[in-house]
Amino acid sequence: MLTTPPAVRPVRPHFSSGPCAKPPGWSPDKIDTLILGRSHRSALGKERLKLCIDLMREMLQLPDSHRIGIVPGSDTGAFEMAMWSMLGTRPVTCLAWESFGEGWVTDAVKQLKLDPKVIRADYGELPDLGQVDWSNDVLFTWNGTTSGVRVPDGDWIADDRGGLSFADATSAVFAYGLPWDKIDVATFSWQKVIGGEGAHGVLIIGPRAVERLESFTPDRPLPKIFRLTQGGKLIEGIFTGETINTPSMLAVEDAIVALQWAKSIGGLPGLIARSEANAAALDRIVAGRNWLGHLAQDPANRSKTSVCLTVDGADNDFIKRFAKLLETEGVAFDIAGYRDAPPGLRIWCGATVDTSDIEALGPWLDWAWAQLGEQGK
Ligand SMILES: Cc1ncc(COP(=O)(O)O)c(C=O)c1O
Repeated sequence: MLTTPPAVRPVRPHFSSGPCAKPPGWSPDKIDTLILGRSHRSALGKERLKLCIDLMREMLQLPDSHRIGIVPGSDTGAFEMAMWSMLGTRPVTCLAWESFGEGWVTDAVKQLKLDPKVIRADYGELPDLGQVDWSNDVLFTWNGTTSGVRVPDGDWIADDRGGLSFADATSAVFAYGLPWDKIDVATFSWQKVIGGEGAHGVLIIGPRAVERLESFTPDRPLPKIFRLTQGGKLIEGIFTGETINTPSMLAVEDAIVALQWAKSIGGLPGLIARSEANAAALDRIVAGRNWLGHLAQDPANRSKTSVCLTVDGADNDFIKRFAKLLETEGVAFDIAGYRDAPPGLRIWCGATVDTSDIEALGPWLDWAWAQLGEQGK
């Protein structure tokens, strides 16, 4: 039995799938605090919010056709806001292959009472994307964080679609090159790939979503924090830094630090390269161990951020003890799979994680397996 702990420890044992590792070199004193204690509607407040928006646009390589704004309620808030204010004029299709996609189905069915067509797949699989009828509005999760299955690209999204595409892209943005011409609505939050803080959502809308907002008034009450139009016109201020209500300027400043780090490593290509290198390092670890496997069966659909692993014969109790042991050793935080997913490990490979830390994790997984392995199952 491998009882001697490995000599090398991950320097930053932060492998959580959200909130994710802070950017390398991050420290609280990098945060500009000048705006704290001041109004977010002051000239300085608006300037900082606008800077954050401009940096996001630049790092995402977002075309001018698409607006981007900071909204309340993290990714959930942003996605719900889009659902509640735009759905109901066309049939709806929901794609679900893990917990978050399933959550949007629940809301579409039980709250919005939309009777959507639901196309499902089990954990580890992607549904047949060819089945999608693009005369419908279509809701999907670009990267299923709880199963580690992502859509491979946007080729399956029709150019001449009649409906709108709604992508929950929270663990996909800054990790993949997204085809913005295929995306009418996208949402995310800062605490994933760029390692910002949880608090606000980011809502991206293309021209067809704006057209929907300005031509369709849903037959349901809309709380103030969901309202994107006034008098039938888009509230443009939301997309220039005039937030609907008070944001956390501390979270905004922290996001600016993260985005400036992203810029310093070469922007989107730099972020993608780091994520891919991390996923490749983890792949090598999995390939070398017959007790580890990928939950996502098809490599083309396998996430490069939230990588979900199967562990031979493990149940939830075993995974709990396995993750706890590594947490207690201070070498891996938060690597147990999501509570609704099949028992397994989930190791974040987004850009803020260092590849050397993924590499250092491998021997520790062996060590925990040796401690708990056969006799522990
Ligand atoms: C795909 C996906 N959607 C939605 C959420 C919820 O995000 P938030 O907590 O930012 O609202 C998460 C969080 O992990 C997620 O991974």
